[in-house]
Amino acid sequence: MKISSLLFALLILLHQQLPTVNASVEKICKQVALEKGGDYDFCLKSLQRDPKSSTASTAGLALIATRRAKEDFRSALATVKKLLRGNITDNDKSSLAVCAEVYDDGVYILREAIGAIRSGTRDDAITYLSASLTDVSTCSDTFDEFAANKTMVAKVDADAAKISTLALEIATLM
Ligand SMILES: *[C@@H]1O[C@H](CO)[C@@H](O)[C@H](O)[C@H]1NC(C)=O
Ligand SMILES: *[C@@H]1O[C@H](CO)[C@@H](O)[C@H](O)[C@H]1NC(C)=O
Repeated sequence: MKISSLLFALLILLHQQLPTVNASVEKICKQVALEKGGDYDFCLKSLQRDPKSSTASTAGLALIATRRAKEDFRSALATVKKLLRGNITDNDKSSLAVCAEVYDDGVYILREAIGAIRSGTRDDAITYLSASLTDVSTCSDTFDEFAANKTMVAKVDADAAKISTLALEIATLM
């Protein structure tokens, strides 16, 4: 083998061993859509909001999505707390109390997910991100249990689930 082709092979090898370097937002969102059945446009929109995304590795992009998810959970918690102070039925109150608990837990769990992504422990990141999705469904399901007014949190739950799902999809590509 010629030196030049050897060098070329070495470069390819190095590149393959460092797949996270310069992974572009577009590339990861295509992967999310094709391999994970995720939402390409939502992925692009969510990641590009962060200027650091253009140079981020796959883990860096998972981090961006997970941070966004944490902010979403935080604002979901604030919305739920505000709804709890309103004039609502006892059943609504019981359901919202569960939601307050699980979104509070979700914020904590997503903080753990961020730590796991930072330290490169992919499996832990996946576990935590999956757990955050369980929190969202627990909130959603409790309205069926108490026959309460689910419309109150429908959008909050849908938004939280969407960004957590994206973070999870990216984390599985780490
Ligand atoms: C709270 O809602 C109930 C039932 O809809 C209503 O009868 C009551 O007047 C409301 N109270 C306040 C303070 O708005
Ligand atoms: C349920 O909640 C939504 C949004 O808060 C509200 O617009 C609607 O009037 C509520 N429905 C009932 C039956 O209380």
